[in-house]
Amino acid sequence: MKSLFETYDMSGQKLRNRVVMAPMTRARAKDGIADEQTAEYYRQRAGAGLIVTEGTPISQEGTGFAFIPGIWSDDQVRGWQGVTKAVHEEGGKIFAQIWHVGRMSHTSLQAAGGQPVSSSAKPARDDKSTAYAFNDEGVAGFVEASVPRPLRTDEVARVVNDFANAAANAVGAGFDGVEIHGANGYLLEQFLNPLINDRTDRYGAGSVEDRTRFVLEIVDAVVARIGAAKVGIRLSPFGRLFDMPHHPLIEETYLHLAAALAERNLAYVHLKDQGAASAPAISRDFLGRFRQSYSGTLILAGSLDKRRAEEFLRDGLIDLAAFGQPFIANPDLVARLRQDLALATPIRETYYGGGAAGYTDYPAYEDSAEAKAA
Ligand SMILES: Cc1cc2nc3c(=O)[nH]c(=O)nc-3n(C[C@H](O)[C@H](O)[C@H](O)COP(=O)(O)O)c2cc1C
Repeated sequence: MKSLFETYDMSGQKLRNRVVMAPMTRARAKDGIADEQTAEYYRQRAGAGLIVTEGTPISQEGTGFAFIPGIWSDDQVRGWQGVTKAVHEEGGKIFAQIWHVGRMSHTSLQAAGGQPVSSSAKPARDDKSTAYAFNDEGVAGFVEASVPRPLRTDEVARVVNDFANAAANAVGAGFDGVEIHGANGYLLEQFLNPLINDRTDRYGAGSVEDRTRFVLEIVDAVVARIGAAKVGIRLSPFGRLFDMPHHPLIEETYLHLAAALAERNLAYVHLKDQGAASAPAISRDFLGRFRQSYSGTLILAGSLDKRRAEEFLRDGLIDLAAFGQPFIANPDLVARLRQDLALATPIRETYYGGGAAGYTDYPAYEDSAEAKAA
């Protein structure tokens, strides 16, 4: 029977187990550059078969939160080199999640206070749709996302190229590959969703081919730059995050993508189930149909525990299981899962921002409160 703890060959990259650390923004990069503390955090978690980093913006335009480490400048690449070195010293593998937030940004984060870009001019307006940016006094905090402007047709190629450059930078920084962030209501989803995308050009909402064109152009540009075996993509079908409305074309859209991505022989597709975030869960039925259309490595994330992850593996629905929050408080998560040791509960207040507290100070099991209580 397939186990979470056996090795896995991911397009020629040998993972030491089937546990993936899901991408998690931690907002601790003061100057937008990964530093020694970032390296320490990922080093502690290198027991994962694969780490996917926090989202790293491909450009200033793609940034929606302050204190996030980017991947477009030489200094940022040097910062990430420390991270990849640390993880590789521990025998781990690490992909960078490359990210453009689209409309989930704020004028204070954009060049010359400009508008963020999107597929359309529709702003995100539910109560969770905030950017972490600066107010008029320059103080950082949560602010309503600004009204975006639609990317002109002749600008799309520039954004596609920014993704390809970021991927090349990631390889230059020593990453084993990149995960294109196509989930969670950000720019790629703003093109995929026909209720947000009101364009009439070839990236428009008229047909599934047009709506998925931007995503596939990004995939193809990134593959052309660094090779398919180093490229993954994250998608969140049925997701509602950041004011993404539900629409009747979700299944058609994502099954079309599944088939198109299968032809491209990527390292993986990573599905994020937002069932815990007041969205419909990805059903086993849909997962099975996605799997039929997409023959490559499939990762699932969202409220997994050891039992559910092993069930999905056993039933052949997924190849790798991603864990997010459990990795925050359990740097040695794989060892704890393997030995059925108690897990520590992460502290939500320190998820984003601050320093070492709630970041690099969670102990391994031997030194933990859970061990003392056992
Ligand atoms: C603090 C925090 C930050 C996150 N940041 C990202 C991110 O940068 N990119 C992304 O795709 N998902 C992000 N997520 C979602 C996680 O990758 C994961 O899918 C989610 O937490 C559900 O998995 P879990 O139930 O195992 O935590 C974040 C989640 C948390 C808790």
